[in-house]
Amino acid sequence: MKLVFATNNQHKLDEVRQITAPYGIEIVSLADIHCEEEIPETAETLEGNAWQKAHFVRENYGMDCFADDTGLEVEALDNAPGVYSARYAGPGHDSEANMQKLLGELAGKENRKARFRTVIALTLGGEEHTFEGIVTGRITTEKRGEKGFGYDPIFIPDGYDKTFAELGDETKNQISHRARAVSKLGEFLAHIS
Ligand code: IMP
Repeated sequence: MKLVFATNNQHKLDEVRQITAPYGIEIVSLADIHCEEEIPETAETLEGNAWQKAHFVRENYGMDCFADDTGLEVEALDNAPGVYSARYAGPGHDSEANMQKLLGELAGKENRKARFRTVIALTLGGEEHTFEGIVTGRITTEKRGEKGFGYDPIFIPDGYDKTFAELGDETKNQISHRARAVSKLGEFLAHIS
């Protein structure tokens, strides 16, 4: 079975290929199908954006496809930045500015509960399925650690006392929102392949 993963992010492709390889499922990227245009992500929810990307590939390339979208949801901020996580501090996708803005918004607030949520939308043989992965935790008062990306230096997952940026990829990949959503997708594909 051949499935498009609507991304060109090598890290995400490697992670998904590792999980789906044993089931004989070939995962191809947007570059592999020569999709060079920017796929719109203009929805107001993670689900909406994931479906927008998956449907774009289905409609324009006629291929089975899945797409993901992730956001950091902070309880005291009514789940912001959520779907706007990448551009919280502006269109520049600047992680440093995003973290500083979030720390500023939370200054003086006691409730620092947050969660990363990943949604995967899969369109396969005319059927549609969604998979969700969540990791709960809290936001620190200052940055800690050098590894990872995005909001990793200010997020401590529940059950740990280190940020994702201190824990590093090996631990993060076992417990992360994305890993959880991807393994649900993998289990589903294993049963139908
Ligand atoms: P995307 O949907 O995977 O592109 O994620 C959107 C944004 O959420 C990214 O630009 C990051 O700011 C943030 N994000 C997603 N996953 C992670 C993560 O694992 N750690 C830290 N930040 C993340």
